[in-house]
Amino acid sequence: MKVTREQINIAESAVREFYEKDTTGHGWDHIIRVKNLALKIAHIEGADNDHLIELISLLHDAGDTKLHPSEHGAESFLRGIIEKLNLNEQNRQTLFSLIRSVSYRKRHLYSGNQESKIVSDADRLDAIGAIGVARAFTYGGANRMKLHSQKTDEETVISHFDDKLLHLRDMMHTKTGYKIAVERDRFLKVFKDQFLNEWNGKK
Ligand code: ADP
Ligand code: NI
Repeated sequence: MKVTREQINIAESAVREFYEKDTTGHGWDHIIRVKNLALKIAHIEGADNDHLIELISLLHDAGDTKLHPSEHGAESFLRGIIEKLNLNEQNRQTLFSLIRSVSYRKRHLYSGNQESKIVSDADRLDAIGAIGVARAFTYGGANRMKLHSQKTDEETVISHFDDKLLHLRDMMHTKTGYKIAVERDRFLKVFKDQFLNEWNGKK
């Protein structure tokens, strides 16, 4: 699928203001990191459709239900942006599916391609490592969650490490993504161990 610089600019101006307002861990800075990391992975992996990678990166969270009051609202926000890109019907559908395939929860419902898999790796890498830790606590603060709890059934920021973050390393699609994930995952484990040692008065 061929994407022009003009289409990237249209997408960017449609989402930029929206992300710049966010303080829950989905800000514009996240989008830019995902885009840059995805391009870096693409070059190492020899994927050459940089424009498509940029476009998917810019729009990858636009249909996320966490950022909209309803599932329907989220999807129509994304569809509305895709409408503005002057694509034919088939490419509109393809792009929608590629973008939704990046979503962690919806990934089983949509088919991806090499570019969307690279963006997915970059998105997940931004949820682990030092930035991942920072984003998890930002999310926890924004959603009034506890840091940690002794109760095993309570959802806390630390329980999110076991529920999701510590599984991301083994969900990488590319070799390059996996290599970066190994290092970031190691840091997550070090952080969590130190956190629990301090919590339990062991350090
Ligand atoms: P992404 O933008 O990578 O698709 P999400 O929308 O799932 O990821 O979440 C955005 C950020 O918020 C991530 O860094 C993620 O770890 C964090 N986050 C999401 N859910 C929780 C949770 N229940 N507890 C702590 N952090 C969370
Ligand atoms: Ni994201």
